[in-house]
Amino acid sequence: KKLMLLNGPNLNRLGKREPDIYGSKTLLDIEKDVLELVKTYDYDLNAFQSNHEGELIDIIHQADGIYEGIIFNPGAYTHTSIALRDAISSISVPVIEVHLSNVHKREDFRHQSLLAPVCVGQVVGLGAKGYSLAALAFIQEEK
Ligand code: DQA
Repeated sequence: KKLMLLNGPNLNRLGKREPDIYGSKTLLDIEKDVLELVKTYDYDLNAFQSNHEGELIDIIHQADGIYEGIIFNPGAYTHTSIALRDAISSISVPVIEVHLSNVHKREDFRHQSLLAPVCVGQVVGLGAKGYSLAALAFIQEEK
């Protein structure tokens, strides 16, 4: 069984990017942490990052039928992308939306997610731990 960890624009800058908001871990650190966690449950993890909306859409399409779930931080596309929302709707793999920062205590334009209505749920404001919590939500899902 496999999970996908997918990160959108600017998240390749984690560790250097506004560390007071996003923390000091790099994306590679986070990917390693989540891989280590899921391995203890006999799950595998494939991690991808892209700064390009179309590439994220291609990755989501290709996930169909292959993954048990997608852990997705769409970055700023959260607030703008109808195309990513439609991509999520086009596959049967469930998606959990993750944000490192608490978007609700930030600028108004971060309060709305166009993707949340087509995701299973959201993990918001818990930092890098949020990715692991999303992974556990998929792994420990009641059948
Ligand atoms: C983010 C929140 C977004 O509003 C922002 O554009 C990001 C990161 C987060 O993880 O907190 O790039 O998704």
